[in-house]
Amino acid sequence: MSNYHIKHLEEYYQVYRKSIREPENFWEEVAEEHFMWQKKWEKVLSWDFTKPEVKWFEGAQLNITENCIDRHLATRGNKTAILFEPNDPNEEAQHITYKELSERVNKFANVLKNQGIGKGDRVCIYLPMIPELAISVLACARIGAIHSVVFAGFSSTALSTRINDSECKMVITSDGSFRGAKTIDLKGIVDEALKDTPCVQTVLVAKRIDSIIHMESDRDKWLQPLLDDASSDCKAEVMNAEDPLFILYTSGSTGMPKGMVHTTGGYMVYTAYTFKNVFQYREDDIYWCTADIGWITGHSYIVYGPLANGATTVMFEGVPSYPDFGRFWEIVEKHKINQFYTAPTAIRALAKQGSELVEKYDLSSLKTLGSVGEPINEEAWHWYNDNIGKKKSPIVDTWWQTETGGIMITPIPFVTPTKPTYATLPFIGIQPALMDENGQEIRGNQVDGRLCIKFPWPSMARTIWGNHQRYRDTYFSAFENKYFTGDGALRDEVGYYRITGRVDDVIIVSGHNLGTAPIEDAVNEHPAVAESAIVGFPHDVKGNALYGYVILKDTGESRDHNNLRKEINQIITEHIGPIAKLDKIQFTQGLPKTRSGKIMRRILRKIACNDTTNLGDTSTLLNPEVVQSIIDGTKNSN
Ligand code: WTA
Repeated sequence: MSNYHIKHLEEYYQVYRKSIREPENFWEEVAEEHFMWQKKWEKVLSWDFTKPEVKWFEGAQLNITENCIDRHLATRGNKTAILFEPNDPNEEAQHITYKELSERVNKFANVLKNQGIGKGDRVCIYLPMIPELAISVLACARIGAIHSVVFAGFSSTALSTRINDSECKMVITSDGSFRGAKTIDLKGIVDEALKDTPCVQTVLVAKRIDSIIHMESDRDKWLQPLLDDASSDCKAEVMNAEDPLFILYTSGSTGMPKGMVHTTGGYMVYTAYTFKNVFQYREDDIYWCTADIGWITGHSYIVYGPLANGATTVMFEGVPSYPDFGRFWEIVEKHKINQFYTAPTAIRALAKQGSELVEKYDLSSLKTLGSVGEPINEEAWHWYNDNIGKKKSPIVDTWWQTETGGIMITPIPFVTPTKPTYATLPFIGIQPALMDENGQEIRGNQVDGRLCIKFPWPSMARTIWGNHQRYRDTYFSAFENKYFTGDGALRDEVGYYRITGRVDDVIIVSGHNLGTAPIEDAVNEHPAVAESAIVGFPHDVKGNALYGYVILKDTGESRDHNNLRKEINQIITEHIGPIAKLDKIQFTQGLPKTRSGKIMRRILRKIACNDTTNLGDTSTLLNPEVVQSIIDGTKNSN
C-alpha cells in the first residue's frame, strides 16, 4: 500500500526516506493505486540531466480528464466540483457538480473538435476567472489539444508574443471581464493582439459582461450557440504519459518569456498527491485557492490537483478589495471554506486594513492556510496566523515554481511543526541541494547557498516550447547534473529550508515573476530614452517594487520628467501589462558598468534600497565616478 495520505511526522520521515531510496517503486505504487490508466507504463522513470531528458511512466496511456472528472461520476456525481463566486457579491454563486462539469467539458471539447482543433494543436486561453476558463482548459485536455493559458491581465503585445511563440490555432476569450467596480474590454485587447498572429484561425468568445464588441467575420464566433448545438458525449483522447498537456509562459531574466511544457502522467500524479497532503483535504471540505488560473498555482491547485482528488474547488472572479477589503473573509464565511491558499502580497494588503474587517466574519471553518509565490515575511506570517488562523490553523508556506509544476518544499499541516518564514521540509520525493559558487554541494545544517534539485520528480517541466537548448542552459548548466531553481535558500539547524529570494535578474512583484530585460526593452522603446536598468527594492505590500534608472538621449532640449515618467509607464503597460510599471524612476547621466560593459546591478540595487554604506569594491568599474552622482540623484527619483 502506498502512503497516499500522510498523517504524522514519523510517517513523513518514513515515507520520505522510501521515496528517496526507491523513487521508482514509490511513485509506481502511488500511480497504480490512485489513478485511472488506460494502459500501464513500461518504465517508471528514465532520466539524464545532461541532455536534459526526463520521462515518467513511459508507455502508459491515460487521459487526465478521466481522472479529474469521469471516475468521480459514480460516487460524486452530485458533489460540487467547481464553486464559482462572482465578482459582484449580489450575483448568485454557481455550484457546478461533477456531473454538470462532465457535460460542459464534453460539449466544449466537441466545439473545439468541430472547429478543427485536434490532438497536439495549441489553443490560447485568455479568459477571466469564470467557469469557462476551467472548462476550456479541461476541454483541451479531453481532446489532447495543448492549452496555453495567458493571464488576462497581460497586454495585447504580451498576448501576441505568446500566441506566436507556440503558434496557437485558436484563442478562447470573452467579451470582457469584471474586476471590482471596473469592466475590462478583453475582446478589444485580443483584437489588437491578433493584428499580427497569422497562426490564429478561430476566436471563440464567451459572453460575460454583455458589452458591444467587434466580431471579425469568419474568425470570431460566439461560444454559447456552438455549445448549445454540441453533444455532451466526447470520448477522451488516448494520451501517452509524456504527451504535452499544456504550455505556460514564465518570465526569464533575459529575452522572450519561456513557454514551459508540462506533460500528462507525471504532472497528474504529483499535483494530485501534493494537493491531498499539503492541504490535508478530506472528502467534504471546501477548498479555495485565490490565485488566477493564468498562473501555475491555478493550473495545479485550482484545476488539476483538486479535481483529481474529487474535491470542491472555489473559483473567485473578483479582487480582495471589492466591494471592500472584507471580501475574502465574507467568502470564507459564506462558503465555509476549509482550506485557504493565497499569496503574501494579498496578506500584506489585507493586514494593512486592520482586523476590524476580519472580525466581522466567522472564520471558524478554516483548517489550513496556505501561502505561495514569494517569501512570506515574519509580520505577515504572524498576522495571518493570529487573525485568520486564530493560531489553530497551520500555515503551509509552499515553495515551488512554474517549472516544478507542483509544490516542492512545504510543511504538511498537523504533521510538520511550522516556523515563521520557513517553507520547512522537502516534500516526498524531492531532493534539494544547496550549492556554493564553485559548484560544490554544501552539506550539513546552518548553511546557505543556491537551491538546486538533485533528482527528477514527476511534475517537472520537460522543456521550453521550441527551445530545448534554452531549457538546458537556464536550468541544467549552472550546476552539473542538477536542476537550478534560480533561488537562494538557507537550511537551519534542524534542516528546515528558508527561501531567501531570487539570485538572478528576476524580480517578484506582488507574487508575479518579472524579468528585468523585457521591461528594460520596453522602457528603451521610448524615443527619449537612451538606456535603462531596472532593479527591485523592498515594498511593504508588493514585496518588491521596481526602480528604473534611465539615461535620456542628449538632445539639448529639457524635458518634463514627470511627463516622461508617465509615458514610460504607459509603454510598459502596453508591452507587458500594468503589473510591470515602475514605482520609481530616476533619470541619470550614467550607469555603473564593468570593463566588459555589463551593468553592475548589485550597486544599483543597493542604491535603490537606500543602503549606500557598503557598496563593495567599485574601483574595477569602467566609470566609478558615476556611482556618487547616482546616489546624489536618488532624491530626485519619483
Ligand atoms: C518564488 C509560483 C519564497 C521563488 C508557484 C520561485 C517563493 C518563484 C515561494 C516562482 C515561497 C514561490 N517562498 N519564494 N513559498 N513560492 N516563490 O513560477 O522565487 O510564479 O522561484 O511559481 O516564486 O514563481 P512562479
